[in-house]
Amino acid sequence: MTGNRTFTMIKPDAVENGYIGAILEKITAAGFKIVAMKYTQLSRRDAGEFYAIHKERPFFGELVDFMTRGPIVAAILEKDNAVDDFRALIGATNPADAAEGTIRKLYAASIGENAVHGSDSDENAAIEGAFHFSGREIF
Ligand code: PPS
Repeated sequence: MTGNRTFTMIKPDAVENGYIGAILEKITAAGFKIVAMKYTQLSRRDAGEFYAIHKERPFFGELVDFMTRGPIVAAILEKDNAVDDFRALIGATNPADAAEGTIRKLYAASIGENAVHGSDSDENAAIEGAFHFSGREIF
């Protein structure tokens, strides 16, 4: 059982493809409450910091290029067992491996452009939420 908050981004590919509304509908229909949300664009510095844990991985440059190429929607979501339930809702990192009906299966094209981010632990959910939102932007 994980805690009651997670952090998500609707990534540039899904924004470009017009999927913001459909993805938010899936998220709220699954019982997540949006407690913070903004439409924004990451700078290269932001993306480098956010994904710093992956900086030695071979795809790091591509990941930063992709995540900075257009706007994203960042949000903090609330629900019991938020981290695990949200990762189940979005599906596997590679949409080719994602279960039917998951957000990545429905709206993502590839492992590099996979429509949504979901925190992988309670600790990272708190760090990632605080990266994007101040206390007074969380309701
Ligand atoms: S996960 O879900 O964190 O366990 O997945 P992981 O494989 O560790 O991937 C971490 C993030 O890197 C992205 N990724 C890639 N980007 C570009 N090219 C390739 N090949 C690639 N493989 C993984 C992946 O989408 C993860 O981003 P986030 O935003 O954390 O979902």
